[in-house]
Amino acid sequence: MSHNTFDSDDRSWPSSTHLTHGEPATLTAGVRDGFFGIDSTPDAPPEGERWSSWDGAQHGPEPRPAWVITDLGAVDQDLGILKSGKEADVHVVRRWVPREGMEDTDDRAVYMAAKRFRDSDHRMFHRDAGYLEGRRVRRSREMRAMARRTEFGKALISGQWAYAEFNALGELWSIDMPVPYPVQITGTELLMEFIGDEDQAAPRLAQTRPAPALLVDLFEQLRTAMNRLAVRGWAHGDLSPYNVLLHEDRLILIDWPQIVDIIGNPQGPEFLQRDCHNMCAWFSSRGLLVDEGELLGELMAAAMSRW
Ligand SMILES: Nc1ncnc2c1ncn2[C@@H]1O[C@H](COP(=O)(O)OP(=O)(O)O)[C@@H](O)[C@H]1O
Ligand SMILES: [Mg+2]
Repeated sequence: MSHNTFDSDDRSWPSSTHLTHGEPATLTAGVRDGFFGIDSTPDAPPEGERWSSWDGAQHGPEPRPAWVITDLGAVDQDLGILKSGKEADVHVVRRWVPREGMEDTDDRAVYMAAKRFRDSDHRMFHRDAGYLEGRRVRRSREMRAMARRTEFGKALISGQWAYAEFNALGELWSIDMPVPYPVQITGTELLMEFIGDEDQAAPRLAQTRPAPALLVDLFEQLRTAMNRLAVRGWAHGDLSPYNVLLHEDRLILIDWPQIVDIIGNPQGPEFLQRDCHNMCAWFSSRGLLVDEGELLGELMAAAMSRW
């Protein structure tokens, strides 16, 4: 049920400009209306853009990939929404470095996916129940706030999902898992490596029909990734062909806020079993008969091997 409300198959984005951080858009609107006089360029980037939010954000793990733009004078431009989900919207953001007297060129520009979590009034709570169990929240004031579902508590919960995904991506990236590099987090907005080409996001695996030889290779990629995860004691927890992207014949696993401890979480083995089932069912539907039970057994053994 959770995966059938997709946008169209056209994954190129419209050029809408909607930013949730900073006020440059309003500022420039004011400028346009003549409130601030004319010489406003150094103070505010063009409408629909904001100064790079890098400074003041929490950053992803080191060593940082060379493509990450850390210049304080960089500008973030929202290229529009990629997908609107129940818990988060994903936008495409282009970060670039304006240079004096130069046309806007692409040589210092990078695309990122901006995942913006909703506050919980606009979200479904299905993840909270099963997953928050066993996850520790350090400060008890926060704990109480969450329990009362106050405004602060709600923000905290939604913030926690963003942080949970950010932290998971950082750890996963550091152990060489095929995941997008987490560039930064500010509040409920997570910026990560954009998977795709210049003007098109990589398709979700569900939308693809790989040739038989590639299909075999992709299953091996999946098995390797799930094993690496299981050895650490983890399962994705919401793995499906909708949370796997296919880019240049490589699988990239996304959507990690609910990463699950296979042994520590009482429902861990169930989540792992569901992950295996979702993926194996897809491979079977594409003509590669894979043994779900065998995969599950292998992964459970890997998870237990740490004990
Ligand atoms: N890093 C990324 N690069 C390219 N596309 C992405 C990226 N992250 C997410 N997407 C797109 O946005 C969609 C929703 O992201 P996801 O993390 O799965 O959030 P949700 O919780 O809404 O399912 C994905 O199915 C994918 O199409
Ligand atoms: Mg998803």
